[in-house]
Amino acid sequence: MSFVTINDINPKVLKCEYAVRGEIVLLAQRLQQDLQEKPGSHPFDEILYCNIGNPQSLNQRPITFFREVLAICDHPAILDKSETQGLFSADAIRRASEILNQIPARATGAYSHSQGIKGLRDTIAAGIEARDSFPADPNDIFLTDGASPGVHMMMQLLLSSENDGILCPIPQYPLYSASITLHGGTLVPYYLDEATGWGLEMSELKKQLEDAKSKGITVKALVVINPGNPTGQVLSEENQRDIVKFCKNEGLVLLADEVYQGNVYVPEKKFHSFKKVARLMGYGETDIPVVSFQSVSKGYHGECGKRGGYMEVTGLRHEIREQIYKLASVNLCANISGQILASLVMYPPKLGDESYESYIAEKEQILSSLARRAKTLEDGFNNLEGITCNKAEGAMYLFPQLHLPQKAIKAAEAAKKAPDAFYARRLLDATGVVVVPGSGFRQVPGTWHFRCTILPPEDKIPAVVHRLTEFHTAFMDEFRD
Ligand SMILES: Cc1ncc(COP(=O)(O)O)c(C=O)c1O
Repeated sequence: MSFVTINDINPKVLKCEYAVRGEIVLLAQRLQQDLQEKPGSHPFDEILYCNIGNPQSLNQRPITFFREVLAICDHPAILDKSETQGLFSADAIRRASEILNQIPARATGAYSHSQGIKGLRDTIAAGIEARDSFPADPNDIFLTDGASPGVHMMMQLLLSSENDGILCPIPQYPLYSASITLHGGTLVPYYLDEATGWGLEMSELKKQLEDAKSKGITVKALVVINPGNPTGQVLSEENQRDIVKFCKNEGLVLLADEVYQGNVYVPEKKFHSFKKVARLMGYGETDIPVVSFQSVSKGYHGECGKRGGYMEVTGLRHEIREQIYKLASVNLCANISGQILASLVMYPPKLGDESYESYIAEKEQILSSLARRAKTLEDGFNNLEGITCNKAEGAMYLFPQLHLPQKAIKAAEAAKKAPDAFYARRLLDATGVVVVPGSGFRQVPGTWHFRCTILPPEDKIPAVVHRLTEFHTAFMDEFRD
């Protein structure tokens, strides 16, 4: 056994938590193994994973065009084979050839420029420009292995001690609390208002900023997750303008987590990038720093395992950009398949391309199914005694509130668990449905929630609702005061 003890390691690592893959999930994996080894050993025949935004692990199929391009790029020798024309669409062959010409030595197995392959950054910039109708500079783009390393990089850049703070929504996606802890800063919470569909109130932002300042904390940045995780709200453009103005007035970097930009399910809401909103307000490059994170993991593509993404860094001085470049260089470069996918996601087939119609059909099928699944689950939750659930306007999650009887809260205390963790554990044991307790995302003290993804296959959603309903009714009967 090594002489290194738990007390010898970095206390920031010990302190950091990441609930999405926490205790409940480890238990679910054990139960799954039980079911394989001893069928019938639990009161359910399969585990239904509603804990993590990982669509392809739940049978979502990848977009054909994207995979055709990736396959050719990874094995360019097939471009010389006669069968290739029959196996791949003409535009996938054309796009793969263009991409290969942009990669030095046509080698997807080689390191690239630390910001990512220049030709792919050009394509991404063109995609951003088409989305926003404002120019984008390929030199502002840093390709990353998913959005997570970009977030870490920005935290590493901005935080030097506990006196440095980052304003973060509560509830939040735990990457933020974890990365702030790991990089030694302080999370300055601002609470989203559940009563107004997880609205972002400016008065709350101002109050929390002042409170942090009075404690001697220098707040460096504001994180906004839009559409929200775990809360599923899509911000109105007016709200976004207020946020931009707030950051401008307070001298904050706006860290805009926009990884769910492709996941909006309600016709009355639209995704607007914060950079576009800032430009529409007349703020240029030198007026406000905005860093936007995008990922191949989410949207309709859900390519989580390919680890692709980028951050678009605007409004930071040249010498700071050089430091970000240095941080990116320490990691050498993002993986090349992820880089290629990021360019495909931001610049998909266009009208007139051979793949266009099948691409649109695949995309629409996934997005419309996600919208239906979100609605069925939302209605299912709202039909239950003691549960209230806001709409998932976007992203991939519902975050229902549990109004638990005192007796259930006491039972949780006796079991030394947070009440929502107690509930989630009982739910898993009884039904095989895996959700994440709200405490993992933080919440208004004294309120209890859980996060449930909308990702199980559509034909399994009625089973999720059914199992949840049966469990919840029995739970309430057991603990009703
Ligand atoms: C809001 C948000 N940001 C960032 C990420 C990071 O995803 P990835 O690193 O796969 O891009 C996730 C993943 O679930 C997320 O929900």
